[in-house]
Amino acid sequence: MTVTTSDTASAPQPKYRKDYQAPGFWIHEVELWFDLGADGTTVRSSIRFERNAAVTEPGSPLVLMGEELETLRVSVDGKELGASGWSATATELTVRDLPGDSFTLETEVRIHPESNTALSGLYRSSGNFCTQCEAEGFRRITWFLDRPDVMATYRVTVTADKTKYPMLLSNGNRIEEREEEGGRHSVVWEDPFKKPSYLFALVAGDLHCHRGTFETMTGRTIDLEIYVEHKDADKCDHALGSLQRSMKWDEETFGLEYDLDLYMIVAVSDFNMGAMENKGLNVFNSKYVLARTDTASDADFEAVEAVIAHEYFHNWTGNRVTCRDWFQLTLKEGLTVYRDARFTADKTSEAVKRIDDVQGLRAHQFAEDSGPMAHPIRPEQYIEMNNFYTSTVYEKGAEVIRMYETLLGRDGFRKGMDLYFERHDGQAVTCDDFRAAMADANGRDLDQFERWYLQKGTPTLKAVGCYDEPNQTYTLELTQSAPENEPHFEPTHMPVSFGLVGPTGADMGLAFEGEDASKAPTNRVLELREMTQTWTFHGVCARPVPSVLRGFSAPVNLEMERSQEDLAFLFAHDSDSFNRWDAGQTLFKGVLLALADRAAKGEALTLDPAVVEAVRNLLNDESLDGSLKSQAMSLPGFSVLSQARTHVNPAALIEARDFVIETLSRELRGDLLAQRKAARPTGAYRADKESIHGRRLANAALGLLSATGEDDIIEMAEEQFAAADNMTDSQAALGCLVQIPGSHRTQALQAFYERWSGDALVMDKWFAIQAMSRPFDVAAYELLRAHKNFTMENPNRVRSLVGVFAMQNFRGFHAQDGSGYRAVADAVLELDSLNPQVASRMVRALNPWKQFAAPWSDLMKAQLERIREKKGLSKDVFEIVSSALG
Ligand code: PHE
Ligand code: ZN
Repeated sequence: MTVTTSDTASAPQPKYRKDYQAPGFWIHEVELWFDLGADGTTVRSSIRFERNAAVTEPGSPLVLMGEELETLRVSVDGKELGASGWSATATELTVRDLPGDSFTLETEVRIHPESNTALSGLYRSSGNFCTQCEAEGFRRITWFLDRPDVMATYRVTVTADKTKYPMLLSNGNRIEEREEEGGRHSVVWEDPFKKPSYLFALVAGDLHCHRGTFETMTGRTIDLEIYVEHKDADKCDHALGSLQRSMKWDEETFGLEYDLDLYMIVAVSDFNMGAMENKGLNVFNSKYVLARTDTASDADFEAVEAVIAHEYFHNWTGNRVTCRDWFQLTLKEGLTVYRDARFTADKTSEAVKRIDDVQGLRAHQFAEDSGPMAHPIRPEQYIEMNNFYTSTVYEKGAEVIRMYETLLGRDGFRKGMDLYFERHDGQAVTCDDFRAAMADANGRDLDQFERWYLQKGTPTLKAVGCYDEPNQTYTLELTQSAPENEPHFEPTHMPVSFGLVGPTGADMGLAFEGEDASKAPTNRVLELREMTQTWTFHGVCARPVPSVLRGFSAPVNLEMERSQEDLAFLFAHDSDSFNRWDAGQTLFKGVLLALADRAAKGEALTLDPAVVEAVRNLLNDESLDGSLKSQAMSLPGFSVLSQARTHVNPAALIEARDFVIETLSRELRGDLLAQRKAARPTGAYRADKESIHGRRLANAALGLLSATGEDDIIEMAEEQFAAADNMTDSQAALGCLVQIPGSHRTQALQAFYERWSGDALVMDKWFAIQAMSRPFDVAAYELLRAHKNFTMENPNRVRSLVGVFAMQNFRGFHAQDGSGYRAVADAVLELDSLNPQVASRMVRALNPWKQFAAPWSDLMKAQLERIREKKGLSKDVFEIVSSALG
């Protein structure tokens, strides 16, 4: 059972940021007793309250939040209250008989984790118990002031059958363990740090514990424990190493030391999100813990390390300093994504990481920001908070944090962080508090910078350059303009990193009037604060090619008229790796969009040989590592291309993209074969940087080569598939073999299935690889939907089939008869009753319906309408669908 719209007569109502009020009561101490059973769980609580006189009148009742709780008992200061003392609705407990302004309330409730398919609150996964409380799941465990500005210390007693649940975990320190009657046992936990309820966690199960330690910068030894199912005992090493590296990095980079003596991570296989930073007891989607070279790819290893780092970094940015209210979510998430990105950049390659991140940002966040769910990184309203764990709050939020760094410098940023912790450790604060710390620590005015928190949509940055040969000056005019969907746009404070590339390909000096160009810096951060500003550089002795927005210094759409020659020049020479890559992307994008327009009119397609040569040059540039080469040859995806058009004809876009891929494949065949051969690491598998770059290039080359489906390439992929001793090569080869129908396809899928059908995470890959493949249509989708290994109750499995089909298989999803849309809508309707959070992720595939041409737009809209009709639709899906149709 989930909370549904039919519970109330009217539609669910939004909450607004402007309505924030401090809580009517504070909570200082919480004590909880869990009696875990196969058939229901009893939760007893004892909570010390104190009236917040600034907000509530003496004598006014206490109102607590709850969901799906069966209330057994309520008492105050040890006296059980009769029926007149309290009353409960489906979501509120009101206690009237209060002895004064400070008192202890005790409640006892019964809950049902065994039938909780929403995976929020206390639930079961693989026979174990676990919790997920962010954002508002704690109220599904007990009556509480379930809001992040109410922070308390917790003491928790967990009691359960000892044989079935030998491990009983909660936050903080394990302080007591005792045997109980009837084969049961109890463990008592105490968390000395005040925390909001969303950071509460409990786990009970029969788990393998992988142990390690970390010695902190002050010489304390921290016990590290990673809990997984027994069958996964040999997949924990990388997670432990990642945790140790994260702890070290945060000490070295931000001077931040871990506080408790114990840090636990538990991997669960049923989890709505990636992972959760509960104090001292992280709960993870097993996908971001388990890694062994034969089951996880290089990308998976990197993702595990990044998510472990992310959750660890939350201990300071999120837990020690938390959010005052959920509108401030980006305070912890944008900042923590920024921190984990810097960590990954340090551990791998700064350039490669930046390119991967911006590619993701443009594909997902820019799309969200121009669609019906567009919102500022600090939203003004929400109906269901879970809907706002978005790429805008996370990834654009991280871009906004990165702009502080660009404006203030690394040292200035660090000073701001230090001041933030000095002022706010132990508090629940706002994005404005963070901005004030950055400003005050650096003596800077960051008032205008607030607009990044207030405005939605992606601004456009227009750049016009002018070279004055007689005067040897170069003038750059920058203009920012409003996103289409932001009527109240005012100019932002925007750092624009800039350089001039001279005719030899080397950077030129950027001298302002009176400065010496030969001594001037070759890169400057220009601060755009007006709608339009110009900068003039002197001593520019030859016509330069401008390189604007280096490193993608602001999350905007750059508009600049540039010839194909200039783009190809930057693609070959820009000293800024990001802009070098991006010049290629801009070049490809122009070519692809022009071809799509031709395809839509049924005209013949041809590819300019200069484009082929530009890619060939990059491939053979030995100054680039394999990852940069593979990024350089990846074409802008469907999402980026369709954002550039209104009335998108998906069939024409796909045709244009296929045409370019096939042409590059044919024309570059020799180069690709040579690159693959040279890049492939030889000998036994190694995970050093060089080997990772090598595999990435070799597999990208194989992928591009296989686009034409020639027999010798298929054989090559088959050989790689058969011989692979690691998942990176195996998965890449399989990914090639499934693109073209034939016995090679079915045989490879069968072999992979037989080898891995017992490993859920690898089976997710088996589903996903098929779901994104070219021949995968709705009929194939339906077959997998009915496959015995498919279930709607496991979010990873749903994402691998439904999610991948809806968001990565543009051919199948956008089938012209609307069958793809219908299949996804069917899945959404089915999921809505089981797990509204996952349903509400899937339904977003239909959000961009207005962008498409007929008949696609009407067919998408019809499915949204069909979903809206469902009786008892969850508020999660209701909010998305009504904004899409609104
Ligand atoms: N706070 C988690 C993170 O970013 C994400 C999360 C949100 C997990 C809500 C579960 C539920 O690390
Ligand atoms: Zn996070």
